[in-house]
Amino acid sequence: MLVIRSIAAMQRQARQWKRAGKAVGFVPTMGYLHEGHASLMNRARQLVGPKGRVVVSIYVNPTQFGPREDFAKYPRDFARDRRLCARAGVDAIFAPTDAEMYRGRAEGNYSTYVVEEQLSRGMESQTRPEHFRGVTTVVAKLFNIVLPDVAVFGAKDYQQGAIVQRMARDLNFPVRVVVAPTHREADGLAMSSRNKYLTASQRRQAVALWQAILQARQTVKAAKKMVTASQLRQRLLRAIEKQREAKVDYIEFFDPVTLRPRTLVERGTHMALAVYVGKTRLIDNARL
Ligand code: PAJ
Repeated sequence: MLVIRSIAAMQRQARQWKRAGKAVGFVPTMGYLHEGHASLMNRARQLVGPKGRVVVSIYVNPTQFGPREDFAKYPRDFARDRRLCARAGVDAIFAPTDAEMYRGRAEGNYSTYVVEEQLSRGMESQTRPEHFRGVTTVVAKLFNIVLPDVAVFGAKDYQQGAIVQRMARDLNFPVRVVVAPTHREADGLAMSSRNKYLTASQRRQAVALWQAILQARQTVKAAKKMVTASQLRQRLLRAIEKQREAKVDYIEFFDPVTLRPRTLVERGTHMALAVYVGKTRLIDNARL
């Protein structure tokens, strides 16, 4: 398995693979990898086949963190990540430094960003207004560096997946963007690098996100007529905040394609939520 640090070397390697007729599959990550990330690597391998090449990027992207967010303390463990990638049969890790990725930014002369203007309104953007600008910018840069034929994202970050698909379509990136299912712990908690921040007690409370999704599904299934979003939101909010350290940021019901909010909830409506458990902000989503 190769570990590549420079942009030029990554582009050279990708071009060489392409000349040799090998499809390139790509999984962008911020590291501190878990089984959810591994499931994306397996999906990438399936998509490019045994002769293809799978690249994982490990880069904690500063431009997608707000000034009061956890950029500095975001968990990092390269040695562990490297073992997980090797086990998953990854061909190359691309792990650049900030100076390499955003040349000039420290000196105040980095000035180009990619902005998606429709799907990035609402939900995550309400609390994290600059977040998706950072995501689309770094993903566009990574696509230009890794030159993938196919890139795999997780449904865990549903809005992000939709935005990246839209960006690739709108800007004609020659890459197929695939969104793969959310990987969960045995009790239903979506795997996340941020779960590491939780104390044992908070970890137990964190299952409230998944339980809210199950409760919403149950409500929709049992309902004789359509359920109003505001009533369901109130009911779920009360259930979640029974956990001592849980504070709801948002609970949204929306169209799975346009991401437009729905005032009535039915089967097929998508639900997403963000909840602070202590200081840790967790997100989850699912189709109802
Ligand atoms: P990160 O949070 O490291 O996630 C990397 C990829 O793994 C994303 O596509 C995310 O949706 C997926 N993922 C995370 N948890 C998952 C789970 N439990 N099951 C399945 N997939 C899961 O998302 C980012 O990094 C960044 O925003 C990035 C796209 C790398 C841009 O910086």
